[in-house]
Amino acid sequence: MTAKATEAPLVLGIESSCDETAAAVVSGMRVLGATVATQHDLHEEYGGVVPEIASRAHLERILPVVRSALAEAKVRLEDLDAVAVGHRPGLIGALLVGTSAAKALALGLGVPFLGVDHVHAHLVSGLLEPASSTPPSNSSPSLPAIGLVLSGGHTSLYRIESLTRPILLGRTIDDAIGEAFDKVASMLELGHPGGPRVERLAVDGDPEAFDFPIANLGRQRLDFSYSGLKTSVRYKIRGIPGQEADHQPVKPADVAASFQAAAIGAVRRNLRKAISAHPDASALLVGGGVIANRSVRTMLEEECHKADLTLHLPSTAWSQDNGAMIAALGGLRLAEGESDDLDLAPAATTREDRVIHHPPAS
Ligand code: KG4
Ligand code: ZN
Repeated sequence: MTAKATEAPLVLGIESSCDETAAAVVSGMRVLGATVATQHDLHEEYGGVVPEIASRAHLERILPVVRSALAEAKVRLEDLDAVAVGHRPGLIGALLVGTSAAKALALGLGVPFLGVDHVHAHLVSGLLEPASSTPPSNSSPSLPAIGLVLSGGHTSLYRIESLTRPILLGRTIDDAIGEAFDKVASMLELGHPGGPRVERLAVDGDPEAFDFPIANLGRQRLDFSYSGLKTSVRYKIRGIPGQEADHQPVKPADVAASFQAAAIGAVRRNLRKAISAHPDASALLVGGGVIANRSVRTMLEEECHKADLTLHLPSTAWSQDNGAMIAALGGLRLAEGESDDLDLAPAATTREDRVIHHPPAS
């Protein structure tokens, strides 16, 4: 049986918004082939992603990555039914590479082209299934659901009535949670990317050693703020400006553990607020690189158990940036009869208004 015999359309998804060049072939939520070429080694010496280096690396890698995903899926280019790309938000030069490649492929093949929002795509990553899964087990969440994206660029909560049109409830007003992990890693001289390294160091630390602040932006508000936490961590490591002479050295593992506890505590608190403001929600969809963190996963399991929500937790591989989530969201839009014109421009940001949602009284 060839992959073409599968029922849902075959969608190629391309991702190039930051420092991973990725492609995948997906049918419905089944991932037939997927390749991720990470650029972490290229950016490590700079302690963060350098946009020009990222764009150049995407250019070199994009076609090999597409070929590799097709080969793994045993799908020929001519078998594809559509091409989707994450066209926003992200580094504009990096997005241009993936968007141009996707448009060229769609035009050459004469198939629909779809630009999808990278952050919205993270929300479907917990629905992805391996090619071998028959029948699909996980792919239809009951809606409405709450959505949570925790990544290097985003910390956002959504109400999801339709997977293709999530409604933004709250987001960070300064740093994203993953960015805070990366900055704390840099203060502790752990290298880049910092999230996994902070998590590893935190294992040997005391999460209650320091009482780092969690910003509270108001009882009703579902926004996040991580800049105050980051500053407190800096003062704990280096001393308060002007009083460095009195500073006592601290154990890095205790800083990592206490920071991680505060960063995750902020998510737990806003998630609880979202759950109580949306009592009609019956599932939680999550995505983004920080979802790979074991303490985050445990917190999500605890909160969903308590609130009786079905948790759609992506595997560690699907929580980070990948082409499969892009293809899957593109496939959902295609099923709704949508596609985009080839003049769709990539965009560094997504313009979304926060909605204070009042769910129907049950
Ligand atoms: O979703 P993602 O791959 O890219 C963006 O769209 O931003 O997320 C990358 C972020 C980085 O900030 C990285 O440090 C963080 O996810 N991250 C983690 C862990 N693994 C990756 N943060 C905390 N704990 C982890 N285990
Ligand atoms: Zn991402």
